[in-house]
Amino acid sequence: MVDILERIHNPLARSATAAVVGASATTIIAGGLLGLSLLDNRLVNKFSIYAGAAGAGVGALFGAAVNPTTRKAPKTAAKSPKQKEGWTDWRDFVVARKVTESNEITSFYLKPQDSGALPSFQPGQFLTIKLDVPDQPRPVIRTYSLSDYSVSPDYYRLSIKREGAPKNQDVPPGIASNFMHDQIHEGAIIPCKPPAGKFVLDVQRDRPAVLISNGVGITPMISMAKAVAVTNPNRPIWFLHGARNGDFHAFREALLAIAPNNPNFTVHYRYSRPRPDDDGGYHSTGYVDVDLVKSLLTPRFMASDAEYFLCGSPSFMDSLRDGLAEWGVPREQVYFESFAKPVSQAKTAPAVATETDGVVETAEVVFAQSGKTAQWSADDGTLLEFAEAQGLSPDFSCRAGICLTCMCRVKEGEVAYEEPPSGTPDDGHALICVAKPRAGRVVLDV
Ligand SMILES: Cc1cc2nc3c(=O)[nH]c(=O)nc-3n(C[C@H](O)[C@H](O)[C@H](O)COP(=O)(O)OP(=O)(O)OC[C@H]3O[C@@H](n4cnc5c(N)ncnc54)[C@H](O)[C@@H]3O)c2cc1C
Ligand code: FES
Repeated sequence: MVDILERIHNPLARSATAAVVGASATTIIAGGLLGLSLLDNRLVNKFSIYAGAAGAGVGALFGAAVNPTTRKAPKTAAKSPKQKEGWTDWRDFVVARKVTESNEITSFYLKPQDSGALPSFQPGQFLTIKLDVPDQPRPVIRTYSLSDYSVSPDYYRLSIKREGAPKNQDVPPGIASNFMHDQIHEGAIIPCKPPAGKFVLDVQRDRPAVLISNGVGITPMISMAKAVAVTNPNRPIWFLHGARNGDFHAFREALLAIAPNNPNFTVHYRYSRPRPDDDGGYHSTGYVDVDLVKSLLTPRFMASDAEYFLCGSPSFMDSLRDGLAEWGVPREQVYFESFAKPVSQAKTAPAVATETDGVVETAEVVFAQSGKTAQWSADDGTLLEFAEAQGLSPDFSCRAGICLTCMCRVKEGEVAYEEPPSGTPDDGHALICVAKPRAGRVVLDV
């Protein structure tokens, strides 16, 4: 009953519903009990009416007291049967649908081939996938944000931008993204690891959240926006997104569709080079910047009232983080994720302590799982590069300390990072793609 009441957001309707249920229940119970008694009919009717009225009153008060915002999404991913069995490694998924979202972005709807349950996930998390790309010496591993949200998902959606070669550089275009666009069709099988990542929005908080993205950085923001709309709709959300124009703008309608049912959800689209056809489809022209954020939030909110989530190109995030800091937003209220190389300054999301100095000159490195031991020196580079030089093949994707794919347990010794990685490894673990030894002997679970 409480569950049903929590879904009614209008307090009058909630109170009236509870009153009707309360009155009906007490009238039936009182009628039954009094009918068995020896009282005459007139008294029975009278008591039944009083009991019904009392039930309605109590029900109305109870209905008013139920707070729909107390209905929360599980803070951590719910344990599904499959998760209890321990989905920790690769699991095969079938591409159930492939949908073109814009000139550059295509979505892939993935369902588990074993038809088992799917664990929920925290909005903002990503999936790690593995592709057998012809001519590549080893499987290609990449991470993609989950771009949709449901408390009990029956599919996962990835939305992938086709990466061309950088301008004026004679290098091949992106391997995985082009393979996904060109060679992966409905029915294809893709091995995936469980949802992971720490760039997440805590839906249970009430503080306003400003989700700011450009380009394909929109993907984790969709899942964050939908999660709040479903589980905590009273929380104010601003969804600010920058695109070149309508041809390059994915999910335009999907986000606009949230707003009519949710007065606390504000969408603002800004196009840098709109086409005449785009008239009416966007809100302003230029680049998404801190002045836009200020103009939307003030005077209703101060800079420090909200928390801010950023995902997009590195220059976009650098400029927004600087602008938000100048505006007076505390660093710990700005969270960001980079899809490519890390942004220049230290991560502002909650971070574990990461040593950035103290790399030793030489060290004995033990790769415990494979039973190999070798002498590392400064010229050998990162521990991932060193492992590869020993003929080992630890998993990796970004090779930049972002995606956590290379995370491994440090069984003995310590590691150091030249720059704090933007991904946050678990306690006792290291991101070996950017780590070097900080002790004379380091034992890695590789
Ligand atoms: C946490 C996280 C979440 C992500 N979520 C998404 C998402 O939701 N959607 C999405 O589309 N992406 C996402 N990404 C990015 C994604 O993981 C891939 O990095 C991206 O798809 C590019 O992979 P690729 O194999 O196509 O390109 P790669 O082959 O890795 O190449 C990347 C770029 O480098 C260029 N290049 C190739 N060779 C060279 C060279 N020798 N010198 C210089 N440049 C070169 C390529 O042309 C290309 O532009 C995410 C990344 C992270 C870390
Ligand atoms: S490979 Fe991405 S964090 Fe190391």
